[in-house]
Amino acid sequence: MKAVIEIDGKRLEYPILEGTRGPKVLDIRTFYKDTGMFTYDPGFTSTASCSSDITFINGEQGELRYRGYPIEELAKSHRYSDVCYLLLNSKLPSKEESDEFDNELRHRAFIDEGLRKLFDAFPRTAHPMAMLSSAVSALSAFYFDHLDISEDESFQEMSARIIAKIPTLAAFAYRRGLGIPIIQPDIDRYFTENFLYMMRAYPGGKFHREVGKKAPTTIRDIEVKALDTIFTLHADHEQNASTTTVRTVASTGAHPYAAISAGINALWGRAHGGANESVIAQLEMIGDIKNVDSFIKRAKDPNDSFRLMGFGHRVYKNFDPRAKILKGLQDQLKDELNLDSRLLEIANRIEEIALSDEYFIKRNLYPNIDFYSGVILTALGIPKNLFTAIFVIGRTVGWVTQWMELKKDPKAKIARPRQLYIGK
Ligand code: SDX
Repeated sequence: MKAVIEIDGKRLEYPILEGTRGPKVLDIRTFYKDTGMFTYDPGFTSTASCSSDITFINGEQGELRYRGYPIEELAKSHRYSDVCYLLLNSKLPSKEESDEFDNELRHRAFIDEGLRKLFDAFPRTAHPMAMLSSAVSALSAFYFDHLDISEDESFQEMSARIIAKIPTLAAFAYRRGLGIPIIQPDIDRYFTENFLYMMRAYPGGKFHREVGKKAPTTIRDIEVKALDTIFTLHADHEQNASTTTVRTVASTGAHPYAAISAGINALWGRAHGGANESVIAQLEMIGDIKNVDSFIKRAKDPNDSFRLMGFGHRVYKNFDPRAKILKGLQDQLKDELNLDSRLLEIANRIEEIALSDEYFIKRNLYPNIDFYSGVILTALGIPKNLFTAIFVIGRTVGWVTQWMELKKDPKAKIARPRQLYIGK
């Protein structure tokens, strides 16, 4: 299939490429050579930056698949470490592969004592995302041999290492903020349980002794399952802003952990992964269901920069399927985890009004993944300034998988867009 473009009487043909699903693409790789002109697409609203077989999103249908598996099936029937295995290896693991990978993540969760000391340098008020991106960038100094990854085995080692260490680094950042000694991972605990352990345990691995205290005194299976599902929902999402950042850094040949650190920084923005923290801050600011209408009015006002955090999406023009799963999880956990009913009431009221309001309907603005995750994370005792770090824990596997796909593409070129010059 071809497209014909006529410029100044010159007739040019460009191939139209078709993938296995989703929109076709107009292949304009020779356009500048043919015409001396650039295409223009700030924010890449109509641009495919690569071909990929990792994740598929159908924005109109609200569909999301990792390596062809529907997110609903993965969230319901597979633990997060198996979803990581699927993304990295394009197939779900057998029982022994699953156990082996789980075991590898347990062994690689530990952090070099030198890197641990980095956290002592941070002020206690440092945002966890600043500590996390710095620590991940510093990891490239400890694993310098990962700079030249060629064969699959060292890719698998590099990936398992960073996937396993991120939760430990996130827990270190959390405990630095409290000014309490960090807890190293416990080899006898599964990935997600270990993260809650490193957050909650007292030195020596002990838990609260006083009965009746609000703080969690142990780690309940229902909490591990809820957080595991949240990690799965965040694992990958095709070419979003932070993944595009990781691919851009990967395209220059930089260290993979430098690319992941860049991805963490891109995710931090409130238009992206930082929205989950802003959603709870916004619900707390709204404070009461009677104030919702005035905030909806502000969100619709073109002269007011206020936006409804957790609403809208570049791709989903229907419900974000991850948001649907989280909403179901909220309903399921409301009593068990004692979710904050006041915040839930405000969130439900916002959703109810927004979904029936012309402004939101016309622009296809639906709740996205960030709208619902925060109430559950709060119930798990996770502070809102750690929410985006939770997103990082889930997304790291997607970033390394996308990194590998680019590195394995012999035609991959350095990312170097051009511009429309409007200066002097
Ligand atoms: C994530 O890309 C991914 O896949 C990201 C992610 C992933 O898994 O990696 O899904 C994770 O980042 C989810 C999104 C989290 N961000 C937020 O919730 C922040 C609030 N939402 C927005 O700022 C916005 O919706 C974006 C950034 C998510 C999408 O922006 P777009 O696609 O560039 O859309 P736009 O800004 O051009 O908005 C289109 C219209 C505009 O109105 P008009 O100029 O046409 O009149 O919709 C309006 C916007 O003003 N609009 C909103 C709105 N989001 C868009 N109005 C009020 N509140 C909002 N939240």
